[in-house]
Amino acid sequence: MKVYIKTYGCQMNERDSDAMASQLKAQGHEIVFSEEEADALIFNTCSVRDAAERKAKGKIGYMKKLKAVKPGLIIGVAGCMAQRLGDKLLEELPHLDFVLGTGQLHTLPEKLEKISAERERFSETTPSPDVLTGMSGHFSGGWHAEIAITRGCNRFCSYCIVPYVRGREISRSLEDVINEAKTLVANGTKEILLLGQNVAAYGLNGDTRPPAAGYSPFAELLDELDKIDGLLRIRYTSPYVTYFNDRLIETLARSKKVCHNIHLPLQSGSDRVLREMNRQYTRESYLAKVAELKAAIPDITFSTDVIVGFPGETDEDFAMTREVMNQVDYAQSFVFKYSPRPGAKSAEREDSVPEEVKEERNQILLGDLAARVEKRLAAMKNQTVEVLVEGVSPRNPERWSGRTGTNIMVHFEPDEKIEQGTLRNVEIVQTNPVSLFGKLV
Ligand code: SAH
Ligand code: SF4
Ligand code: F3S
Repeated sequence: MKVYIKTYGCQMNERDSDAMASQLKAQGHEIVFSEEEADALIFNTCSVRDAAERKAKGKIGYMKKLKAVKPGLIIGVAGCMAQRLGDKLLEELPHLDFVLGTGQLHTLPEKLEKISAERERFSETTPSPDVLTGMSGHFSGGWHAEIAITRGCNRFCSYCIVPYVRGREISRSLEDVINEAKTLVANGTKEILLLGQNVAAYGLNGDTRPPAAGYSPFAELLDELDKIDGLLRIRYTSPYVTYFNDRLIETLARSKKVCHNIHLPLQSGSDRVLREMNRQYTRESYLAKVAELKAAIPDITFSTDVIVGFPGETDEDFAMTREVMNQVDYAQSFVFKYSPRPGAKSAEREDSVPEEVKEERNQILLGDLAARVEKRLAAMKNQTVEVLVEGVSPRNPERWSGRTGTNIMVHFEPDEKIEQGTLRNVEIVQTNPVSLFGKLV
């Protein structure tokens, strides 16, 4: 069968789509990149904001036309929106053949068989723990690879739908992750990105209390990965701030391979809002952790997620968020306008901040970010940095690009030795507000 897979949402979803694609290929199916060519269309969806759902629904709705001219076409919706809406999607979209929830993704090949044999619409959203191992070990190869080390989330931040659509947090065993990493590296992978809704909770069996001093299964995993010959870089996303204890910070500072960049979601800089979001830290404790990390790893960079317009967010609350962001000096930030998610706790409250105010706050934070980035990049002029070569620049085919361990992209002219997935030193010769240009040394 020719299968087209379209992905919405986060890196976890992208990783899931990759795994589904490799699993299908292993069973003799072909992955195609245009809807017209396909015998089956799979939409791997996201529920995190209303806009994400509307986008996917719009697209799936539009596929009705294609099905009208090709009645045998199979259309399936998978992932977080599938899990949230289940049967309702079948009602809402009459041309849809099946719905596959987040705990059933590993069964896609058999579900495709079933639907093409029986032609009976169904929705399967029963969570199965088998998804953890069922989705592992399928990869497409290349210098960069991702490993999902946990699935689900137990934190229940009040605005967030993820714990409801992804289920309870579960971790893969250390042995399983290390074996997967070794297989990847033996097949040419140089950089591994570890994925989880809260990666630093790895191995804590769903306990939401921060680990005791001296104890961090996530750090133990990083230590083991560090020993794999041929692996050059280890990244991870996203960790929750309270899990950075002495044991983890010590590993991060000592490791040769773990990159000096942390995506550390802040969400808000106001203690009142943080409390209402059920985030288990304060502005002060967050900043203290950042200071500790900066002291242990002087060149570390941070990126973050922030929500503007949470119910009741005042100008003062927003000003505090802005202040913390400038103080941490994030190298990158993702700003989201609050979107009430039915089922999540905060959706019981009125979505009180008007859309224009959300938009205004969003623009202010993006403006601050642009100014910080320009300053950071300008300060890098004449420095020599080590990058992992990623390939030809997307915008200029005569240039190549690579990323520093601190997650900053550098563009440069290639030489005859240039090769993807190798470490090279580059001297920064020119900067502009958004990019760095260098020469290989
Ligand atoms: N597990 C990750 C976040 C996953 S969701 C973490 O905690 O780090 C990615 C981001 O979407 C969140 O960090 C948050 O900033 C944003 N988000 C989640 N729910 C949202 C909502 N209801 N409205 C707006 N943004 C939301
Ligand atoms: Fe959502 Fe919070 Fe879990 Fe992140 S930690 S996925 S924001 S509930
Ligand atoms: Fe990811 Fe969206 Fe699901 S952010 S976990 S795809 S709700």
